[in-house]
Amino acid sequence: MLVNAPPMGWNSWNTFAYDINEEVICHAADRIVELGLDQAGYRYVVIDDCWAEMERDPVTRRMVPDHNKFPRGMKVVADYIHSKGLKFGMYSCSGVRTCANYPGSYDHEFIDARMFAEFGVDFLKYDNCNKPEFTNCINLYRRMGNALRHSGRDILFSACNWGTENVWQWIRTTGAHMYRSTGDISDKFDSFSYIAKSQVNKFCFSGPQCFNDMDMLTVGMFGQGHVAKGGCNFEEYRMQFALWAMMGTPLMLGCNPDKITPEVLQLITNRELIAFNQDPECRSAYALGTGGSLDNVPSKLVLAKLLADGDYAVGFFNLMEVKDSPSWDNPPRMQCLFTEIGFPVNSGLAMKVTDVFTGEDCGTHDELFYQTVPAHTCRVYRLTPVPK
Ligand code: GLA
Repeated sequence: MLVNAPPMGWNSWNTFAYDINEEVICHAADRIVELGLDQAGYRYVVIDDCWAEMERDPVTRRMVPDHNKFPRGMKVVADYIHSKGLKFGMYSCSGVRTCANYPGSYDHEFIDARMFAEFGVDFLKYDNCNKPEFTNCINLYRRMGNALRHSGRDILFSACNWGTENVWQWIRTTGAHMYRSTGDISDKFDSFSYIAKSQVNKFCFSGPQCFNDMDMLTVGMFGQGHVAKGGCNFEEYRMQFALWAMMGTPLMLGCNPDKITPEVLQLITNRELIAFNQDPECRSAYALGTGGSLDNVPSKLVLAKLLADGDYAVGFFNLMEVKDSPSWDNPPRMQCLFTEIGFPVNSGLAMKVTDVFTGEDCGTHDELFYQTVPAHTCRVYRLTPVPK
């Protein structure tokens, strides 16, 4: 299976957690199509934890879909999702129990992978809770990687060990197509800004076939749903979505598909941001203004990313708190010096700057481009080198 761009889709956990059932999942698929999210690239509909009965079938040793939540079983759900032109994702765990204490796949990897293939699963998220003492985490991910490869179906392997055990050093060897690199996101500014800053310098390990996954988006939750811990405002969601897009991490929506406001829909279908995320070369974004240091990730974060056509994506992300902004920097200014992205003054090139949120032409600039960027807001641009 070739996974050449960060996967995009929707996952049930952030909003619904335990409260999932056939209707919730099939309705999510309906909404994805009604809203045109599939056309924007969101293809995977993923059921997270809490879909199974508490114990395996004593005879077959297989997991059993919860009789109340999924009375007609999972094949029916898979068929429905496929009939909408979408792909179907499920969840299990490398331990004996999942994080929410349902049966895990430990020592049943090959049985479970075959069962997922029979259901018609296209994507498996694989968690990290409740492993027996002294088991080797790396080996457990390799086991499921192999089990999926030999299941008889192409199944995208979404590893979720939260960035433990220096995951970037070995995860590609397991066959995983994406790997969670941090603990769980919650729907508040501190959570997503911490996650993004923690990964800025870890994207050199991310690329086609195995993408760094900074967790499901909370964009559009507005403080409602399982991981809602205060919520964000719309400006903050713009920042979260733009960070995820520019950093080239999978775009898995986590909001309630019935509560997507028109402005959120416009944000999550922004063609330019999605194009940055899905750029065919998948080059990592990097921070400017750090004096070359990889340890220092400033809170006034300027990211640049080289695109396949030679343009640059450039984002100004002001992750500071208003109270921490120094008085000399008021209003807060952020800039991109073109020499820092490798265009010295003698390059003979200037930069045509386009705002990706408004489509506005921001003019052609020599040497640098700067903007006022208040705390908790961002600006994102496409820079096109043009002869001076
Ligand atoms: C872990 C994962 C979450 C979610 C829950 C489900 O915490 O990191 O994304 O899947 O388990 O229990």
